[in-house]
This record gives sequence, structure tokens and C-alpha cells, in this order.
Amino acid sequence: MGDAAELIDPVMRELPQWLPAQRWFGGKDRPITAVRPVSTTVLLEGDPLLLHLVVEVQQDDRSAPYQLLIASRAHLPEHLGSNWIGAELGMPCYEATSDADVTGRLLDLIAENTRIGSLTFAREPGAQVRGGLRGRPITSEQSNTSLVYGNQYILKLFRKLSPGENPDVRLHRALQEQGSEHVAPLLGSITGELDGRPATVGMLQRFITDAVDGWAMATTSVRDLMADPELPPDLLGGDFAGESQRLGQAVATVHNELRRALGEQLADADELDRTVKAMHDRLDKVLAAVPQLREQAPALRAAFDRVRDTEGPVPMQFIHGDLHLGQVLRTVTGWLLLDFEGEPAAPVSERSVLRTPLRDVAGMLRSFDYAAHQMLIGQPEDPRLEERALEWARRNRAAFCDGYTKNAGDPVGDPRSQGFLLRALELDKAVYEVAYEHANRPEWLGVPLASIARISTGGE
Ligand SMILES: Nc1ncnc2c1ncn2[C@@H]1O[C@H](COP(=O)(O)OP(=O)(O)O)[C@@H](O)[C@H]1O
Ligand SMILES: [Mg+2]
Repeated sequence: MGDAAELIDPVMRELPQWLPAQRWFGGKDRPITAVRPVSTTVLLEGDPLLLHLVVEVQQDDRSAPYQLLIASRAHLPEHLGSNWIGAELGMPCYEATSDADVTGRLLDLIAENTRIGSLTFAREPGAQVRGGLRGRPITSEQSNTSLVYGNQYILKLFRKLSPGENPDVRLHRALQEQGSEHVAPLLGSITGELDGRPATVGMLQRFITDAVDGWAMATTSVRDLMADPELPPDLLGGDFAGESQRLGQAVATVHNELRRALGEQLADADELDRTVKAMHDRLDKVLAAVPQLREQAPALRAAFDRVRDTEGPVPMQFIHGDLHLGQVLRTVTGWLLLDFEGEPAAPVSERSVLRTPLRDVAGMLRSFDYAAHQMLIGQPEDPRLEERALEWARRNRAAFCDGYTKNAGDPVGDPRSQGFLLRALELDKAVYEVAYEHANRPEWLGVPLASIARISTGGE
């Protein structure tokens, strides 16, 4: 156990080694040159001591604020050993999100609707929040850390922070006001301060029990199909097309609700030019890093340029921004969309601009492609299984678009009717995937490369 003030300096010295090992840490590509405290708030005094910290992480010419919960205790329970930060400090100091004895404090503070230092803990107007529960981190964490309280609430702590209201909170609130059935109810938030502006650091939602994520459901269906390559897909128990169609309907409905809540604009020629330019720019960057993509570059460039020939109005609005099968949950009643934060690599200022809803459609179509092909990675080549994967992707992509069309209001309609734009958005996403796989999972690189070859030659 220690005094808050005494802990800060030694923790800052340890963080450059500790941070890169954390799954949610976004800057793994280069070493950390310095970490300095931005704000410290004592949430529990005594033993255990609980601190909320915002730190500025410097990596050469780049720096970003991150949120940490740090605790200290006289006696550290064994199960917390892996979160140990202070081994070199001679004091039991650790990252506290996996300590259920202290995480309850965050929920209690939201239930109390209160303020400590620069942190505001708030219930949404009219929301019922009951404290007194212990919070445990979910195991599927990605870019942030989410704590589940007694299967009733889920609190997402955003790790990398930006000034302003997080789009996840903003869009959830807007959808809730529209009475959306496709998002989990928003119950509260935690707001801190960055650069003198309020900045969202946490979001509390109803935890949905008995839900399965879309990726798990889709890949189970693919596995069933691969198990018996002779049977037609609609005769197999695991056919997913009905779900894909309902998912398409849910996404279109959410787009309609976002449009009603936050408005829309029609893209002009300049806007389309900027979109095309951004696609070329991304391709330039990825080509410099991934030589395997060179052969496809002329076809990609031609497909991007064709966006300028898009006929009819292109509506722009608030969208999800990072939609894929891992961001949707199938509940007993239907599909929910999660995580409206946008593409994690993009700056928040870029994430909260109006964009074509076809970008979300393209993201989901890419995800169907991934779900279909992920089982074949690292396996000996088998044209029959390859054909099955393509067939699954075609069937479910079409079902998703059918569902989307069914619920899409004017002026979006059938996403396939703006084929140039949809195809270019899919290819742009696949170029992003090429860069990601090249850096993180080279054995998966074949998935986006094969899609690019297929889509840019007019296939699906
Ligand atoms: N309201 C909820 N009910 C049940 N599970 C949820 C809920 N919200 C999120 N989850 C689970 O937590 C995971 C991470 O949530 P997400 O909002 O995508 O966070 P991240 O920003 O870390 O990606 C989801 O993939 C889902 O499995
Ligand atoms: Mg997510």
C-alpha cells in the first residue's frame, strides 16, 4: 500500500515497459520514450488504494493520452500477480481492472451521480443504476477494457482518450432517443478532462445475457458447411442466410434512426473527389509497405476512380464506422449493434463526420468474406472447400444486402444499385486489411489479397 503522491513517479518509470504488453495499447510499433501524468484522482483511500490516472504516452514525435486504473494493497492476492506493475518498486501496485474488490467503486459512483476531482460520474436521465456489485473484465477485450457487473451492467473504459464526447456515447444516446431496438440501453457515463475540455472516459450499458456475437455464429455456420461439402447449404442445420438477412434489416434500421436523429447531407462532386483521393492515398501508403499488392494496384486505382461516375445522389450521414461481425450481438429477440466508436486507428475528428452508409455495408460484406475463408488458413489447398467458402460468402452477402434493401428508406435503397461506390469501399477496406495482416498476421494476408483480385475483376 502506498500514498498516492508517492506512487506516481515510480509508476511512470515502470509504464514504458508495461504498456506495450497490454492488448489495448495502440502504439506497439515503436518504443515509448516517456510517460507523464496528466491527471490523478483518488477513488479509494487507504488499503486498498485506488487511483484513476490519465497519462500522456510519448513515442518520439507522437503522443497520446491513455486511461489507467492503478491500485495498491498491503497484501496482493495471488490472482492479481499478472497485472503487477510495481515489481521493481518494492510495492504491490497493479492495474486494477481485474481486481473485483475495487472495480465496484466505479459503478457505485455512477449510481450516486457524483463528481470527484475532475471526474464526473453520471447516470443517464431516468436510468436506474444499482451499485454494490463487483465488476470483472470480459475476456474478449480488444481496444478497450469492459467490466461486467453481476450480468446486469457493462462498463467500457476507453483506453486511448480524445477530448470531446466519445462517438460511442453520442450515437448510443441518439439511437436511444429514437427508441432503437438495435442497441443496448445506455445507462451512464464517466467524463474527465483533457486539454481543458470534457472527455468521455467510460460508458455504462445494460449487459445483455444469453447473447452470441455474430462472428461466433457465422463461423460456426461455415464449419458446419465445410464438414459436409456434398450437401446444399439450405439443407444444412447451420445455414446462416436467414440471420444475415435480419442483420441487414437491423443495420438499415439503425442507419434510418441515425439519419432521423442527426441529419444527413447529399455528397457533392468535391466530396466524392475527396473520398477517391483518400482511397488512393491509403493505397500509396500500403503499397510502400506490402510489395505483394503491387500487381493489383492498377485495377484498384481504376476501381477507385470509377466512384466519380456514381449516378444519383450519395447521402452522407452518421454511421457506425467500424462495422463487422464481431461488433454485432444476436440476442433472443434480434440483432444489436455495438461499439460506435469508429475505426480505432482514425482520429476522433475524422470519425465523427458524415459518411456514406455504404461504408458500413462494405465493412459487413468484408466480414462475411473473412468468416468464410478463415477456416482454410494454413490448410492444404482443397478446391472443393474453397468453392464452399465462396458459396457461403456469396449466399450470406446477398442475404445481408436483401435485408438491408428491405428496411432501407429513401434515398439509400439497395446498396448494390450504387455498385461502383460499394465496390470501391470494399476494396478500400481490403487494402486496409492487407496492411493490418501484413503487420500482425502474415498467414492471413491471402484473404484480403484474394478478395482484391476477385472484386477488382468484377467478381463478388
Ligand atoms: N451490452 C452488452 N451486452 C453483452 N455483451 C456486450 C455488451 N457490450 C459489449 N459486449 C461484449 O463486449 C465486447 C467488447 O465490446 P465493444 O463495445 O466492442 O468494445 P471494444 O471497444 O473494446 O471493441 C463485445 O464484442 C461483446 O462481446
Ligand atoms: Mg469492438
